[in-house]
Amino acid sequence: MEVMTDQSSAPAQDAARRDGFASRVGFVLSAAGSAIGLGNIWRFPYMAGEGGGAAFVLVYILFVLLLGFPVMMAEFSIGQATRRGAVQSFEVLAPGTRWSWVGRLGVSAGYAILAFYSAVAGWALGYLEKSVSGAFASPISADASGELFSSFIASPVTSIPAAALIIALSAAVVFKGVGRGIERASFVLMPIFFLLLLGLAVHSLMLPGAGDGLRFLFKPDLSKLTVPIVMSALGQAFFSLSIGMGVMVTYGSYLNRRETGLAPLALSSVAADTGVALLAGLIIFPAIFTAGMKPAGGPGLAFVTLPTIFSTLPMGSLIATAFYALLVIAALTSIVSMIELIAADLVDRKGWTRGRAVLLIAGVGFLLGIPCALSFGGSAFFTRFFGVPDGFFGLLNIAFGNLVMVLGGLFICLFVGWKWGMPQALKVLGIAEGKKLGVLLSFSIRWLCPAAIAAVLIFIVITGKFF
Ligand code: TRP
Repeated sequence: MEVMTDQSSAPAQDAARRDGFASRVGFVLSAAGSAIGLGNIWRFPYMAGEGGGAAFVLVYILFVLLLGFPVMMAEFSIGQATRRGAVQSFEVLAPGTRWSWVGRLGVSAGYAILAFYSAVAGWALGYLEKSVSGAFASPISADASGELFSSFIASPVTSIPAAALIIALSAAVVFKGVGRGIERASFVLMPIFFLLLLGLAVHSLMLPGAGDGLRFLFKPDLSKLTVPIVMSALGQAFFSLSIGMGVMVTYGSYLNRRETGLAPLALSSVAADTGVALLAGLIIFPAIFTAGMKPAGGPGLAFVTLPTIFSTLPMGSLIATAFYALLVIAALTSIVSMIELIAADLVDRKGWTRGRAVLLIAGVGFLLGIPCALSFGGSAFFTRFFGVPDGFFGLLNIAFGNLVMVLGGLFICLFVGWKWGMPQALKVLGIAEGKKLGVLLSFSIRWLCPAAIAAVLIFIVITGKFF
């Protein structure tokens, strides 16, 4: 007995000092909850639609497996090794160096993404309310739907409170902690999410345009591939997996030390994220082809094209309600992880209480969210914002949602591959260096990811185009 207590005393002490996930399933649901978000249901379908469908999807899946999965593993290994937040992790592993700026970059991206992301989540909440109150019960034309959307997002009276409500709900979850807040919320929300998703997918696959939708998503015409499409697939892979910012460092730090074998956890999260993106495509494209509309609807796809279609379907209000509820849930579990990224840093490094940290983050997120909500006509200044498309919102979206995430991914790979070292990382992950997976991960983290990301960055500099 004595000996047993002795053996388990170190992890037990650790667990007592630091909050954490109680189960592997809870961890996967939470990591998948972070990854699965507006990126899967709002962004992926419109990017696939604009990128010609299956060719984009194919490249996207390759990037997820070859680059996304290794970067997620790299982030988990850092967090698991240090059991600290995104900034302090680097301070612990590389004391006295500038590497902690990688963590700082990620935490700042957390604030920025929180701001514009909760604006879009607020739209989804508004559209959920519209669906419930029967706004899509009778057919509306594409023009009327476009008009409805632009006037909705231009009105600060609805968009600001909607975003504030989303932030407040997520902040309340984070305030309760990792095990009792995030993990529990994920246990409730993710199953509801999957049920809604499956129901909607089954419904869509029974529509007359299902065959066309499937062909569009899964029958690649590689001649359609262009350099910008390949680049946008890479950006989308990083965005969708929530990697490159330290979110997965933070979640990895809350995993029990005695957990061995993180590969299955990362693989499940990645598979869930990709599966949901594909299912979202299976929901949206059959409906689009059935209605005889174009797949390249752009960012308005989910808010302009879909309501037109919903409004013509039998039980359209119910389907619209399920769809926007899906968006809101997806957004909530992602926003929770953005807040946790920042909160963990303030708690671990600055010694703040969780309550104080969450209040500050929610406050800053709300304040930064106001110019985002005003970027669509509510204020001429923020709408135009020095000529950036989509104004202040667009600036945060491009600079942090794309550029910083990819840059962060690059630095994380360089750190793990060349500074801290693959042998250490693999040991933490419980993977033998000589095994196939170890070799593959080392190659990807040391060479493949840095090269692919460098190619994207060079492309951006040369063309001046962000994905
Ligand atoms: N992965 C999220 C999505 O697909 C978006 C996202 C990017 C994110 N970076 C993040 C979410 C950081 C939480 C934290 O919608």
